[in-house]
Amino acid sequence: MRHLLTLTDVSAAEIQRIFSITEDLKTKFAQGLREPLLPGRVLALLFEKQSLRTRVSFEAGMANLGGSSLMLGDDAGFGKRESMADFARVLSEMVDVVVIRAKRHATVKEFAEHSACSVINGLTDLAHPCQALADLYTMQEQCGTLAGLHLAWVGDGNNVARSLVEACGHLGVRITVCTPKGYELDSQFVADSRRTFPKLDLTTTRDPRAAVKGAAAVYTDVWASMGQESEQEKRKRDFADYRVNTELMSYAPKEALFLHCLPARRGEEVTDEVMDSPQSAVVAQAANRMHVQKGILVWLLAAQA
Ligand code: CP
Ligand code: NVA
Repeated sequence: MRHLLTLTDVSAAEIQRIFSITEDLKTKFAQGLREPLLPGRVLALLFEKQSLRTRVSFEAGMANLGGSSLMLGDDAGFGKRESMADFARVLSEMVDVVVIRAKRHATVKEFAEHSACSVINGLTDLAHPCQALADLYTMQEQCGTLAGLHLAWVGDGNNVARSLVEACGHLGVRITVCTPKGYELDSQFVADSRRTFPKLDLTTTRDPRAAVKGAAAVYTDVWASMGQESEQEKRKRDFADYRVNTELMSYAPKEALFLHCLPARRGEEVTDEVMDSPQSAVVAQAANRMHVQKGILVWLLAAQA
């Protein structure tokens, strides 16, 4: 059974296949065509944290494809009424694919171990694979090609940063991850990634100006992720020099894109001026979540057949 828990679950060729399905479906979508490639298929969503983009993009995408979706709320008792194994075994007998947003990555892994259908990670503390695929697709779309591009991450070495490292490792995009002291990418993750992706071109630094030099895209995310709210004030102090503002963007090429997975805390990790600048591709990036996830669903359900 194929799952998408992190981007180590797919090959570069499979990502290219997902992107090519995405491009075809996105072109048709723009022409008002909704190709029903997944009639009768059912997607279940289990979310332990809030979501706008991930939930809506999966539900709308599944509807476009002629399938349906079920958002399972608290009344399903996920993690409360029965063991994870029993929950997974039963739910996966009735639906074709499950998207899970979990507080702990171990939850998604445990569910997948017992699931008879494919499981997609809709964000955990360790990874946000669908986000990173949509981000690289957006860079390819906006820049014409991924060849020779450099992505600069300025912020926390978090779930989104990790998935971007893996996506860049697959697709040959140079990536710089710039974090304050104490918020670096996990060193074991970096070592594992270098082994998994021998051509990974990853630089880590504490210097935001050096990081964005020559970047095709400058990317940031909230300083305190969901679940880290109690660290908000400390993080505001620790990340104060890592805000993406017009001054920092002036060290990047003038055509550099600004990317953010959203939701943003305007005035903290990014200023209004940058968010609303012509360089900002954040809305196109969010819109691509749906298109790329349609590609993922079509590819994954074909792989499952
Ligand atoms: N970027 C992202 O995953 O957004 P949501 O938290 O709204 O799903
Ligand atoms: N790093 C953020 C991403 C939200 C899409 C979080 O985990 O809250």
